[in-house]
Amino acid sequence: GYPSAVKVIEVGPRDGLQNEAQPVPTEVKIALVDRLSAAGFANIEATSFVSPKWVPQMADGTDVMAGIARRPGTLYSALTPNMKGFEAALAAGVDEIVIFGAASEAFSQRNINCSIAESIDRFAPVAEAAQQAGLRVRGSISCALGCPYQGAVPVASVVDVVQRLQTLGCDEIDIADTIGVGTAEQVRAVFDAAARVFPMERLSGHFHDTYGQALANILASLDVGVTIFHASVAGLGGCPYAKGAPGNVATEDVLYLLHGLGIATGIDLDAVARTGDWISQQLGRANGSRAGRALLAR
Ligand code: HMG
Ligand code: MG
Repeated sequence: GYPSAVKVIEVGPRDGLQNEAQPVPTEVKIALVDRLSAAGFANIEATSFVSPKWVPQMADGTDVMAGIARRPGTLYSALTPNMKGFEAALAAGVDEIVIFGAASEAFSQRNINCSIAESIDRFAPVAEAAQQAGLRVRGSISCALGCPYQGAVPVASVVDVVQRLQTLGCDEIDIADTIGVGTAEQVRAVFDAAARVFPMERLSGHFHDTYGQALANILASLDVGVTIFHASVAGLGGCPYAKGAPGNVATEDVLYLLHGLGIATGIDLDAVARTGDWISQQLGRANGSRAGRALLAR
């Protein structure tokens, strides 16, 4: 049977916005995070503390964190690739830091400019400092179901990185389908293999909807015991590797699925749908959530 409750982590303010070509005003980012926390999310990925040369859109992480109204019961997470990012995240008051690696060497080089082994060496002091500061540590594994440069990614490569992130003491590890190419059986196989080295209840599914497989992959993940999923309001976030493709799976669609299965999330779907419409208007984009559009048209 399905679990009685699932944690949905909202990643729109980070993964959804990071590739927007036009600078999104800091006030809009702050309002987005606040609307989402008011909708009941227990965990929001609010921003990144990365090099502004690599991702200019996330350069205002400190201001975003300073501007939001902290809701008790919501954890605010941010990406921190190195000690410089960690120090900024700590000063900004994030609750959870995310160290982000990849299961493919080529993607690791292009995304964080180092090999997988070098990335783990770089993450080690970050994880240790975070633990000493009492922050949660999440590890994210890109290209766990396929790589835009390398193509197929062996399950063993994913398990290897899971193991390394576990050694660093990660509280939670994300299996990320960066380019949305995975299909259901593959998803089951990757989670089953990962769960042999890290507890299933602390693994999460981060799906992009590039090929329209995200909801099917979430259902497949639920089948094998995954209880944490990432999603982005209004399906924000294009895929830089597939022009015009949709971004992260839309939060509204995921909530509609989960609630329909009788799974509690603690999140107000109607409030998320209104937020999805609002942010789509702010960005001048069509609302990428099918459930969101349908709910608002009722
Ligand atoms: P590098 O160029 O090798 O780093 O980049 P560096 O240490 O040589 O530093 C270069 C410059 O950046 C220096 O500035 C540093 O100070 C500065 P300069 O001296 O030239 O003026 N710098 C920083 N500034 C602010 N904050 C920092 C920071 N670090 C260095 N933390 C680095 C290496 C990792 C920094 C770079 O490649 C980077 O920032 N990459 C981030 C890429 C990124 O954010 N990608 C998107 C997020 S991952 C993702 O979306 C996948 C995910 O959603 C899961 C999935 O779907 O797969 C999570
Ligand atoms: Mg992503």
